[in-house]
Amino acid sequence: MVDMNDKHNLAIIVGSVREGRFGPVVASWVADQARTHGGFEVEVVDLAQVELPLALPDVSPKFSDEDYPRPAGMAPLTSALDRADAFIVVTPEYNHSYPASLKAAIDWHFTHWTAKPVAFVSYGGAAGGRHAVLHLENVLTELHAVTIRDGLSFPFYYTAWQDGRPLDPESSGYAKTLLDQLAWWAGALRSARETAPYPA
Ligand SMILES: Cc1cc2nc3c(=O)[nH]c(=O)nc-3n(C[C@H](O)[C@H](O)[C@H](O)COP(=O)(O)O)c2cc1C
Repeated sequence: MVDMNDKHNLAIIVGSVREGRFGPVVASWVADQARTHGGFEVEVVDLAQVELPLALPDVSPKFSDEDYPRPAGMAPLTSALDRADAFIVVTPEYNHSYPASLKAAIDWHFTHWTAKPVAFVSYGGAAGGRHAVLHLENVLTELHAVTIRDGLSFPFYYTAWQDGRPLDPESSGYAKTLLDQLAWWAGALRSARETAPYPA
């Protein structure tokens, strides 16, 4: 039985891997918010540090287990996904969607996402990365993940952030709402997973 006061393992995924990216700045601020919240053991997983080839093995990971033939350099991502009871995906918007690096990270795994909650923090131009989040919600539902309604979105991040944090003083309050909801779902779903196997 899960004690709802237990800390949950939270993996914060840095979705962009391009040179000169802004993603780590956002992820670092989000990690600080999560540590201050107190409900999580926080781990930041940077996809730029992970081997993520586009060519997948013959069989879908949906029908495989630990022996799925992933490259050795993917192991830190796979074990972080495995450990996590909750995820925050930090994503920019590329051409009205999310980066290919995130799609690869998702497609190389399956059960690691199942019956776990995922929240989103996005950034970009006018839409603040919301197009990326809408696509991610769609994709992660296919993997039986549970997406959290209240995301954080930063339009025009290039003027809305300074010295590693958002200028909007309400941002920490919005982050707390997201983290409260994520913690609730993390506890509820962990308890459910421990009570009975998810019927996927
Ligand atoms: C290939 C590409 C496509 C982009 N498309 C969009 C877009 O559709 N909407 C948007 O708001 N910003 C778009 N941008 C701008 C990004 O939001 C901005 O470059 C942001 O810094 C990207 O995140 P990153 O620095 O972590 O890679 C695009 C950037 C790139 C590199």
